[in-house]
Amino acid sequence: MRVVQNPAKLQTALARLKRQDKKIGFVPTMGYLHEGHLSLVRLARKENDVVVASIFVNPLQFGPREDFKRYPRDFPRDARLLKKEKADFLLAPAAEEFYPKDFQTEVKVTRLSGRLCGASRPAHFAGVCTVVLKLLNIVKPDRLYLGQKDYQQVQVIGQMIKDLGFSVMIRMAPIVREPDGLAMSSRNVLLSKKEREEAPCLHRALCEGARLVKRGVRDAGGLQKPMREILKRAASARVDYLEIVDVRTLRPVVKLKKGQKALLTGAVFFKKTRLIDNELVRV
Ligand code: PAF
Repeated sequence: MRVVQNPAKLQTALARLKRQDKKIGFVPTMGYLHEGHLSLVRLARKENDVVVASIFVNPLQFGPREDFKRYPRDFPRDARLLKKEKADFLLAPAAEEFYPKDFQTEVKVTRLSGRLCGASRPAHFAGVCTVVLKLLNIVKPDRLYLGQKDYQQVQVIGQMIKDLGFSVMIRMAPIVREPDGLAMSSRNVLLSKKEREEAPCLHRALCEGARLVKRGVRDAGGLQKPMREILKRAASARVDYLEIVDVRTLRPVVKLKKGQKALLTGAVFFKKTRLIDNELVRV
């Protein structure tokens, strides 16, 4: 695996491979890799000739009072893991070079970015879109690998790709969970022992919602109430949102219709650490 700091160098190496008609799979990350990331790298490895991963803790997608400084980092360990999964290139740009002092461009997907996570993190998705567009422009992959845990991110990036006419295909991989159901996230290490014990309640609440849909409950209120009850029992949990939304528009669904695909999704603060999770359901 070749670790590259300079985007131009990576572009030169990839241009040669593209001329040989090699297919490129790209896994963008913010590092502190877990099995969820590695499942994306494995899928990319299976489906492409060349696998590029990136590690960049993108300051643009953190709000002023969010956890950019606290966000866990361990580059040597990440590099070892990616090498083991046979990634070909690891792009790890330096923040000062990636965003020079006069950087002033912002990429914004309007409507989709305002819902769910965007309601409580107003600048988040513009930060994500800006970095992902810049990365896509460097790597020019055939396939882009993203995890379902960040479902809204996948939809927002998908919209950006469609609107701007990029030809990359998005591949969304399922959520990877700890044995107790907690969705894997780099932020899980920020939880105290007690918060970590309570954190699986988010998945339990979403599963309860999915179970009720299967049993015939159709109205959002009737689903949300018992889901919230589960979260209330965790002393360290404070709900940011817990919603049933349309899988495309991410607009709240008031009453589920037959055949409808919906997303049960939640964001919960466990004291200072905000975790997200979701379950896809089909009525
Ligand atoms: O999902 C993430 O880790 C980040 O939002 C991404 C896509 C790497 C952009 O910084």
